[in-house]
This record gives sequence, structure tokens and C-alpha cells, in this order.
Amino acid sequence: METSHKIFAILVVIFVLQLRGIVEASHMVYSELQSISPDIVDDKLRTGYHFQPPMHWINDPNGPMYYKGLYHLFYQYNPKGAVWGNIVWAHSISTDMINWIALEPAIYPTKPFDIEGCWSGSATILSDGTPTIMYTGIDSDNNQVQNIAFPANLSDPYLREWIKPDYNPIIAPTFRVNASAFRDPTTAWLGPDDHWRVAVGSKWNKRGKVILYRSKDLKNWIQVKHPLHSAPETGMWECPDFFPVAEEGKLGLDTSMYGHGMRHVLKVSLDLTRFEYYTIGTYDRKMDKYVPDATSVDNSMGLRFDYGNFYASKTFYDSDKKRRILWGWSNESDSVNADKTKGWSGIQAVPRTIWLHPSGKQLLQWPIEELGSLRGKQVNLNDKVVKSGDYFEVKGIQTAQADVEVEFDVASLEKAEPFDSSYIGDAQSLCKIKGADVKGGVGPFGLWVLASSKLQERTAVFFRVFKDVHKHMVLMCQDPTRSSFGLKLFKPTFAGFVDLDITKTKKIYLRSLIDNSVVESFGEKGKTCITSRVYPTLSIGSNAHLYVFNNGEEDIKVSNLEAWEMRKADMNGA
Ligand code: FRU
Repeated sequence: METSHKIFAILVVIFVLQLRGIVEASHMVYSELQSISPDIVDDKLRTGYHFQPPMHWINDPNGPMYYKGLYHLFYQYNPKGAVWGNIVWAHSISTDMINWIALEPAIYPTKPFDIEGCWSGSATILSDGTPTIMYTGIDSDNNQVQNIAFPANLSDPYLREWIKPDYNPIIAPTFRVNASAFRDPTTAWLGPDDHWRVAVGSKWNKRGKVILYRSKDLKNWIQVKHPLHSAPETGMWECPDFFPVAEEGKLGLDTSMYGHGMRHVLKVSLDLTRFEYYTIGTYDRKMDKYVPDATSVDNSMGLRFDYGNFYASKTFYDSDKKRRILWGWSNESDSVNADKTKGWSGIQAVPRTIWLHPSGKQLLQWPIEELGSLRGKQVNLNDKVVKSGDYFEVKGIQTAQADVEVEFDVASLEKAEPFDSSYIGDAQSLCKIKGADVKGGVGPFGLWVLASSKLQERTAVFFRVFKDVHKHMVLMCQDPTRSSFGLKLFKPTFAGFVDLDITKTKKIYLRSLIDNSVVESFGEKGKTCITSRVYPTLSIGSNAHLYVFNNGEEDIKVSNLEAWEMRKADMNGA
């Protein structure tokens, strides 16, 4: 299929799904469900080590930061129900980003400049160490405006109370700024003139853009004449994130860092597709312009942090461990009614450290090292050949809540299927046709996770290698089409290509974090990541099994597999 046809087909699918209520339009208000607290929270499929509050709806991570020995995570939260609405900034603190204590909401509607909602935003640590928050308020005229808040008491490491000065809003929509598409300020950074910069997501007609503002005192802001960046036909850019990355090594950089040996990353969340895209490029501080590299595709065919249920993400610089951490919202893919019955909706994906791959062409991501503290009982196996059409069970641990690392040896690529180049940039469509049960040449091989004992239920995490004219293409997929036995659910297959010269390595790595209703996978040491939400009916708790399978003609070998049971984290008192 030609690219333009494919884009048209995707838009038609989105439109049809919207008609069927499957892809939720953002900010849909279900007024009848706004004040329903569940009698009982259904915890069957609640996660054991992914961030979530004890009940109700959550969406975007907001203003993550490190301050006086504690990590803070704020997030969009409906205190009154399991659907979007009544949005406040809920607040939790942690010493390790794994175990969390819930505090009172930090920011909630009280003033004309945010009375209709306190939407997403970011934290900035000022040069003297003072934390600030900039967020989008929905004002009494239903306009989106940008506000600032400061801690009431800087000596309180919990930062419980936040003050919103009466001079807010600090940035209101002006001429040629669409007041209903103007939101989610980034972390601010300092320019060469010692003035702050902040970028706000927006669109003008169908052109997505991030509008740039400048200020010397954080109170009075001037709009820079041109946007930091924009791209045609991409629609509203939600939750922009803009930060520097080091050209070498894994260490993170403070958002205001500038100089040699670093590149910049711009990520936007596309409201049109509900996926996120990022580019790597150059930020010219004098011109205040960001230009993506030629290797970075600047639209919905571009690079993604994650190819699955992962949206509205936000990074922050952890000054304690000198790393950049990525948080992303993993939304549900069940129905509004199911959420109402469960009494909860939405989790945050496991925080990931991110850094630039030495090629400079993409970022790498890995679960933060602290996650290792939850690893319990372990099983190992080595050099196990999985013949064409075979599978085996990994026994000895419970795997409803597990962490699995596998190394697959792919000795021969001879039988690799030919690659149809019309699928470049559209791994998801390819995987939809070539799912886990469709026999192939090299692959599909991988894991069946959250599988029932008779395999009626299973979620496949797998690879499939194709032969293109000059190179091999490695496809990574998560296929949940058999994940819930007997349930008619929206079960999207997610996929991405892995940039890997498999003719040289003859190997491919996979790490999957399995957590009751979420499977979060890191292909080839964090090159391609996919998060899926799944709703097993049989593979729950001790009834969940883990298998390795190979549906390709070529044999493959598991040269090493390590799997750990994961303990439950202290999660906001739940
Ligand atoms: C992204 C988003 C943001 C907005 C927030 C409202 O999921 O739509 O653009 O600020 O959610 O909750």
C-alpha cells in the first residue's frame, strides 16, 4: 500500500473506532459517572509494581522531580470516579521510585484561572534549588492558560502545599493562539541571556507546534516570534518534552545544559493517533530554534518511546543519580463500563532511564535499576533449542508478576520471509497480518506471557525477521488477540522495528515486565519498547504461566533465560 493510502486507511480506522467508542476522544466527560466511588475495588488485575493509586482514574504523569532526598510524582487524577474528569494533580513521594506514599492532591481548582481544571505540566528546579510547577489551567471562560505554583514551605521535603500566586495566568492565549489547543508546558530551561524558556503544546489548523515563551522572572512572559518547532498535518501536540542528551555515555543532563557533546530531543504526544513521537536534533540557542536531524522522521511515522499503550510521557533530570528518567501513562484498553466496575483506570509504566544510543539515531530505555529490589525467586536456563513449531514452559516461579530476560540465538537467516517495503514505518499493520500464530521463516519466536495452562489464553511477545533487498528487518510485536479467553475486548496488536544488524549479531535480546494486566517489553536492550494492557480471565495469580515458543521454520536457541518473581511494591497505601 502506498504511504498516502496507508495514512488515509489509518484515519478511517481511527474514525470508525471512535464511532464505536473504542478510541476515546480526549477529554470526553461521562457526567453520569463523575461521582461514583466503587463499593469494592476489583483488585484481580491491579498491578503489583506499576504505579497506581488505590482507586479511580489516572492519566498523565506530571512534574516529576527530585527534591531534598525524595522523588515526587504528580499525576492527572479524578478523585471522584474511574473515568476522566474533575482533574487535579494528585501527589506521591518515594525514596526509590518503586515504593510510593500518597499525599493530598497538590494542585486543584480554586481560582478563576484554573477553576475548570488543573491539567498537565512540568516542574522546574530553579538555579537556587527552589522547585516550581507550571501547569495548564482551564479558566472560567474555558480557555487553556498557563499558571505557575510555588511550594508554601521549602523546608518541607514532602512539598505538601503549593501556592498559586494571584498574578496567574502567567501565559494566556494571544493572537493566533488557539485557546482550546494550548497546553502542557515543558520544564523551563535557561537561555544564554539568563532568561527562562518554556514551550507549550498547540496547533494551528492541522499544523502541530510547540510555542516558545521567554521570561526573566518567571512571571512576565513574551512569546517568541516563531515556534520552537512545528510540522504540518500532525494535529494537536500534547505534552511536549524537550531536553538535552549526552552524545556519549548514559548520564543524563539537566534541562538547561548546553554545549558540545550533546544533542536535543523533542517529544510530542499526537492527539490524532494517541501515540508519541520523538526526534533527535539540534537546538540553536541564539535563534531559539530546534531542527531535527535528517535521520529523524518528523511525523507519525517517526521514532517512538513505546509502540503500545504509552502516552503523555514526561522526563526529568534526577540530580541525585545523574540520569534522565522517563515516566509514561499506560491507559486501559478495556471499556468505560469495565473501568467503572473495576473502580480504577490507568497506571504509569515503570520509570525508565533513557540515554542516546552511540549511533546518535535513537534513544535507549531501561527500567530503573531500583526495580531490581523487587526481584524474588529466580529460575535460569541455558542453551535450549526450540525447534520449528515447538514451545516449552518456564517452570519454577509464579509469573503473573515477573521480570524475564532472554537472549535468543538466531543461527540461520536463510528462511527469512521477503520484506514488503510498503510496511516501512508501519510495523503495526505488518504485525496485524503476521501475528504470533501465523507461521513464518525466522520467527515468530518469543514468549507467551500471562498464559493459561491449556494455552487458550496467552499474550505473545515476539520477533520476526524479514529479508529486505540489502538488509534484514527485525519486527518486534505484542499480540494480545488471545489474551482474554471469552471476553470481547479491544485487543490492539502493537509493533515496532528493531534497528539491529542481525546478520552480524545473530542474537536478539528481550526483557519483559509482566504485572497482572500489563506487559512492558524492552527489545534489544531498550531499542524498541512495547507496553500492552491485557485482561486475562484464566491466567490470573498462580494460574498464569510463561512459555517460550517458535512458530518459524528455522530453529532458534534460548542461549540464556533468567526470570524472577516480582514482589509487590508499597503502592500508595493500597
Ligand atoms: C494528555 C492530556 C493533556 C491534558 C491532560 C488533561 O493526555 O489530554 O493534553 O493536559 O491530558 O487531563
